[in-house]
Amino acid sequence: MTDSRLAIVVLAAGSGTRMKSALPKVLHPIAGVPMIGHVLSAAAALHPARTLVVVRHERDTVVAAVEELTEGVEIVDQDEVSGTGRAVEVALEALGDFDGDVVVVSGDVPLLDAQTIADVIDRHRAASGAATIVSADITDPSGYGRVVRDESGSVVRIVEHNDASDHELAITETNSGTYVFDAAHLSTALAAVGTHNAQGEKYLTDVIEFMTAAGSAVLAVTAAEPWIVAGVNDKVQLSEVAARLNAMIVRGHQLNGVTIDDPATTWIDRAVTIEADAHILPGTFLHGATAIASGAVVGPDTTLRDTEVGAGATVTRTDATLAVIEAEATVGPFSFLRPGTVLGRSGKIGAFVETKNSQIGEGSKIPHLSYVGDTTVGVQSNIGAGTITANYDGVKKHRTEVGSHVRTGSHNVFVAPVRIGDGAYTAAGTTVRKDVPAGNLSLSLAPQKNIAGWVENNRPGTAAAQAAERANDLDNGE
Ligand code: UD1
Ligand code: CA
Repeated sequence: MTDSRLAIVVLAAGSGTRMKSALPKVLHPIAGVPMIGHVLSAAAALHPARTLVVVRHERDTVVAAVEELTEGVEIVDQDEVSGTGRAVEVALEALGDFDGDVVVVSGDVPLLDAQTIADVIDRHRAASGAATIVSADITDPSGYGRVVRDESGSVVRIVEHNDASDHELAITETNSGTYVFDAAHLSTALAAVGTHNAQGEKYLTDVIEFMTAAGSAVLAVTAAEPWIVAGVNDKVQLSEVAARLNAMIVRGHQLNGVTIDDPATTWIDRAVTIEADAHILPGTFLHGATAIASGAVVGPDTTLRDTEVGAGATVTRTDATLAVIEAEATVGPFSFLRPGTVLGRSGKIGAFVETKNSQIGEGSKIPHLSYVGDTTVGVQSNIGAGTITANYDGVKKHRTEVGSHVRTGSHNVFVAPVRIGDGAYTAAGTTVRKDVPAGNLSLSLAPQKNIAGWVENNRPGTAAAQAAERANDLDNGE
């Protein structure tokens, strides 16, 4: 399985200045994965003998992320000499006597796929040259290095944007920053490269001119589509690349049978799973490890993070994190499901309801205007409109337990810890401070008292007093 003649070097040491961000460039996420994670996945799919990641800027943060994303990569520290050439040189030192093909990719080219790299490796091996460059035809090549060819079409060198002549700036064949090198040729060429350029850096791109001048064969293979090798240097490009990847992910789900009404406003992370015949409505964001089963309808205007939605469930205008919504359940509109919410089969969490760390049993309903936290509800119970679980005593959180087939009245407060037994009822407006045994009715209301004539006596002359007077006159038959 392992390709013993293949090493992959991922460049991630640059400072990413143009991102203007405290977060290292290669850790900016697209589709829920840091950019470098996409690159490392593509690299892993090629089964190289060695994978090296070159780091320097924000080293520890980048290393921690890389180690979380993948196993078996070697970290190489770039020294104070700057530039992509120096980055590859330190990787070559770490590679020791490895003498196969070295693929160099940048951590900021997240759409590059394994197939594209595999094709270039094949081309490189067939030609047995010193280097094969992946190039891209870009209508606005501003910022990219340009591939300079001679009259016969052979590659001569790569010139960086800042070092290019007007004539060279007109070239639209750009260097994608992905290459396959013969290790020995690369090592010889890098030793000869200096830092005499606009940025005073050691450019990897300068090895090409050294190689062609020495008579070694260098190929440039144009990528099938320029976006495959698009690099991210600023946040404009970050959003463009994210949109492109999202479009591909959405399309993939559609081709698998998921109904997605509006790809432009549907954002789906790479790890999300959706079964055929689920239906995703506009304005929906599916993040992390969210999983949606067949027949579920999600959206519009819904954000789910690491949330499971069962078959046939409906989730409308909802924000949910680390929640489980079982089959045939309904959620929304305007529901807020916080971590640890589990809604049982055919259950309901309705409008303006917030839940947290609560297990709501099969067929149980919290239909309106409630906060339910740290609560267990049995099966087939109904929680009245406007219910609050008072779960926090100012120091600790406590649980509320509601049994099965319970009917609680509107505008209740459950002061936790408290338990309401199976089949119990509570009256409207009850503040439940003591456990309610099974089958009891709980009331905490003082008897209602009406004081006759209060408004006319205490608010004389007001519109209310006049309205009351008219009503009383009618009652008295005047
Ligand atoms: C580079 C290429 C350019 C190409 C473009 C494609 C060079 C000199 N230029 O330019 O020809 O068109 O990519 O996207 O190679 N890095 C290090 N160490 C460093 C500097 C950079 O590891 O000292 C890493 C960065 O983290 C990044 C990658 O190398 O992942 C590319 O660096 P960047 O500064 O983005 O190069 P570009 O200006 O885009
Ligand atoms: Ca770049």
